[in-house]
Amino acid sequence: MNADERRSVLPTHESVPGGQGFFHREAAKDAKKSISNLCVLGVFAVRFFLLWPLALFTGRAWAQLPEAPGKEETKRICGKCHELERSVSVHQDEEGWLQTMDKMVGLGAKITDEEFGAILKYLAKNFPAEELPKLNVNKATAIELESRLTLTRSQAAAILQHRAKKGPFKSIEDLKKVPGLDAAKIEAKKDRLAF
Ligand code: HEC
Repeated sequence: MNADERRSVLPTHESVPGGQGFFHREAAKDAKKSISNLCVLGVFAVRFFLLWPLALFTGRAWAQLPEAPGKEETKRICGKCHELERSVSVHQDEEGWLQTMDKMVGLGAKITDEEFGAILKYLAKNFPAEELPKLNVNKATAIELESRLTLTRSQAAAILQHRAKKGPFKSIEDLKKVPGLDAAKIEAKKDRLAF
């Protein structure tokens, strides 16, 4: 069958009674195309309208600090050298925040005593240590002791040494006797410890 013959077999408006066959098929094709175009557009539109507010929301949620006394100072001072988000990227207790703030002062942060107190309270209250299960002093590693009890490396090592030599600690009183530990500091963290 050559091209001319094939063309003659295809229905045309002349060959179909009513003269509409060929055009119907083309019209159907066009309709399909425009439906699929609409679908693509629709998906974009849905994405746009759904995700745009979501992006806005998450963007805002990040930059927004809880309303409480000390917020203004925190925003002003802790967003100076790095993003505010970085300042509140950690959760820790008041002592941890005190250390972080001391570190920032060491890095050049200018903070008056009044501002220091306000920011410390704000951070400790709004970004507190996450609830962690109690630390079993008789199973803890040096790193865990250091980070959970804010001990120095040598204090943590002293605990491990004592544990290895004299066996498991029975109570917080045993722990306080480890040479080099600050008994008051251990006492303050007793709620986090298990034996
Ligand atoms: C004078 C500049 C400066 C100011 C002001 C400042 N920081 Fe920082 N901060 C730094 C630098 C520099 C680092 C990076 C330190 C590093 O990588 O060791 C940092 C890092 C941090 C980190 C990451 C963890 C860490 O300990 O390195 C936290 C959290 C943080 N800052 C909190 C704060 C808070 C809270 C305030 C407000 C009281 C604050 N920063 C104000 C300079 C500053």
